[in-house]
Amino acid sequence: MKIKEKISLRQFNTFGLDISADYFAIVTEPQQIIKLRKTFPDLPKLILGEGSNVLFLEDFHGLVVRNEIKGDIEIIDRQTDYVDIRIPGGMHWHDVVTYAVEQNWQGIESLALIPGKAGTAPFQNIGAYGTEIAAVLIACHAIDLKNLTPVSFTNEQCAFGYRDSIFKQNKGRYFITSMDLRLYPGRPPRIRYRALENKLKEKGIKKPSILDVYQSVIEIRRAKLPDPTVTGNAGSFFKNPIISREHYEQLKKKYPDMPGYPFTDNRVKIPAGWLIDRAGWKGFREGDAGVHPKQALVLVNYGKASGYEIFKLSERIRADIFDRYHIELEREVQVV
Ligand code: FAD
Ligand code: EPU
Repeated sequence: MKIKEKISLRQFNTFGLDISADYFAIVTEPQQIIKLRKTFPDLPKLILGEGSNVLFLEDFHGLVVRNEIKGDIEIIDRQTDYVDIRIPGGMHWHDVVTYAVEQNWQGIESLALIPGKAGTAPFQNIGAYGTEIAAVLIACHAIDLKNLTPVSFTNEQCAFGYRDSIFKQNKGRYFITSMDLRLYPGRPPRIRYRALENKLKEKGIKKPSILDVYQSVIEIRRAKLPDPTVTGNAGSFFKNPIISREHYEQLKKKYPDMPGYPFTDNRVKIPAGWLIDRAGWKGFREGDAGVHPKQALVLVNYGKASGYEIFKLSERIRADIFDRYHIELEREVQVV
């Protein structure tokens, strides 16, 4: 394992920010994590996957550990109606989805094209088009960086919530090395997202296959989200806020077309993209920091914006959204 010094992280974060790390190491097997932790006990450490959900504000004076834990997808149990698989954390997530779709295993086809490593997926409980990783994850395996021991979590122990988990709540403590998913050979996909339903209708598909869903999700995403290899971004910059039903009813009087989706405990989830769009920010640009013209929830770096400039823009948006709707937006992107 090579440890590099003073390297640029530009190619390791999808905002394309040219900041540097004092030390940088790539781990390909779990034991190396323990070794690194012992070699550099006092340095601040950052676990990094593909950098598709981080915003660096400045150079990182510590050790960045990039997860490239290798291996093949392994079948750990197979029954007539399900198959359990173990996935090495360093795999590219979309490759896992593609593999499952090729086997005609149902469960993660709606999570196609989400950037990042498989090992990062549980961190924020990735979700899209009506499902989340929590729906199929049966166990998560990690190294506890506090005790330097391997540790496993059941689905329940992962404490998943909307864009939330025990790993996010204890950021930096657990290095996820692999995870086990339960998928369902040949089971018809469930369509639980309006945009996906519309896409399938538009294509004239009445009984969608697993492959149909996978392809449709890819098409929707390509049409709406900027490609990070062309325009720097980290997907949704904010989480969709969850507010009380009373608050929602009040806002509806002023904004009758405000969308809202029922959430647990008589609360309502509001698309932050709608709030930001409606507030006039869509397509806004200042210098090289901007709001994507096709999806107001995505902040972009047109080239040379700094992390601070993007952060400042996000603060302006948050303040404006609060003034208008009395809603506090929470960042989804991890600020470093
Ligand atoms: P990174 O950005 O490298 O890391 C994110 C955080 O996880 C950091 O705090 C890091 O320290 C921590 N971390 C990374 N690896 C580990 C590990 N092995 N163990 C413990 N902690 C770790 N997300 C969705 O949920 N749904 C979407 O639809 C979606 N669409 C996106 C579209 C685009 C165009 C982009 C750029 C991003 C999108 N995202 C989406 C966000 C992002 O893809 C996910 O959050 C993804 O899981 C991040 O993976 P990563 O490997 O790039 O993580
Ligand atoms: N909307 C607008 N204007 C916009 C964007 C959205 O009015 O510019 C409104 C529309 O009413 C639309 C609704 O918001 O119907 C929802 O938009 P969309 O379907 O694009 O989804 P989203 O709520 O903006 C969430 C996730 C995405 C995920 C999609 C699909 C969060 C924070 N974001 O976005 O995840 O891909 O749903 O399921 O929950 C990510 O986390 O990085 C991410 C991209």
